[in-house]
Amino acid sequence: MTAPPRVLVLNGPNLGRLGSREPDVYGSTSYAGLVERCTALGEELGFDVEVRETNDEAEMIRWLHEAADGSLPVVLNPGAFTHYSYALRDAAAQRTAPLVEVHLSNPYAREEFRHTSVVAAVASGTVAGFGIGSYFLALRSLAEPAEKRPGS
Ligand code: DQA
Repeated sequence: MTAPPRVLVLNGPNLGRLGSREPDVYGSTSYAGLVERCTALGEELGFDVEVRETNDEAEMIRWLHEAADGSLPVVLNPGAFTHYSYALRDAAAQRTAPLVEVHLSNPYAREEFRHTSVVAAVASGTVAGFGIGSYFLALRSLAEPAEKRPGS
């Protein structure tokens, strides 16, 4: 039996504090809950989903290199790196498989500095504003046949 395809769900700074961090903005599901729900949906979709989080830009860049080298699809919530990290953007640009940018909140309905994503132009697509549902939509998009994913 062949192993299910791997998918990395990568979370940037402060996302490990989900549940206690500004729940009115980011929802009340804990980070552990997010891991559990993404892993369970991954199984349903036939993926081996690995969820990680880091506050460290260098570590996130290493993970994106790992994904590029292994042709692994990525669901990426870059957190605040979204808005200013050209290093992260350059790492994401090296992708060799679909990369979906996700946000729990809708950054375009928030402070002006959140209206810019330096990652969006090198992502396959972006899902934002649906709480943890943004991750589920992103995972489901990866389960679609490649010809239905024009941005990939
Ligand atoms: C976020 C939005 C970012 O603006 C913010 O810095 C985050 C979380 C989101 O998921 O809504 O850390 O990426």
